[in-house]
Amino acid sequence: MDQIERPRIAVFPGSFDPLHNGHLDIIERCSPIFDEVIIAVLRNTQKNPLFTIDERVEIITEVLDHRPNCRVESFTGLLVDFMETQNAHIIVRGLRAVSDFESEFQMALMNRRLDSRRETFFMTPKEEYSYLSSRLAKEVFLLGGDLEGLVPPPVLARLRERMGRPA
Ligand code: PNS
Repeated sequence: MDQIERPRIAVFPGSFDPLHNGHLDIIERCSPIFDEVIIAVLRNTQKNPLFTIDERVEIITEVLDHRPNCRVESFTGLLVDFMETQNAHIIVRGLRAVSDFESEFQMALMNRRLDSRRETFFMTPKEEYSYLSSRLAKEVFLLGGDLEGLVPPPVLARLRERMGRPA
């Protein structure tokens, strides 16, 4: 395996539609470990997104304002190709439960097969977020449920604004 050279640049990739506190917890745990963490928002053609890519990038940038070694980018195509453009070698993924393992394992091995210089690091979020996903958060909010404490305040504010719901 190639030596991982400095600076240690990690990528935390995802759809982030929306960013939730489980994501934020992982970012807070990994940002002191690496020199730089790039939060990489996938520009896919997801049906019925809650937020556009530009909105997601804007929201995450606002939430991470206080973290000097984090930056937010969007990408298309293969993650490993994006990483090459950023000189990043580490992929950070959150593992909430055993049920995440299979697909994460497949992704990690596929990324390694595509580019053996990339390593995937798995991190576990706080137990209180172990059931939280963007899909569930979206569903709960759209059906009138409360997301206080589950998504960062800027996400909640935008969701409430979008739905015309007062705080
Ligand atoms: O938030 P998600 O949907 O779990 O994130 C999935 C993501 C963005 C990490 C994954 O779909 C991805 O890396 N897509 C880019 C395309 C790619 O590189 N695919 C091959 C490797 S699995």
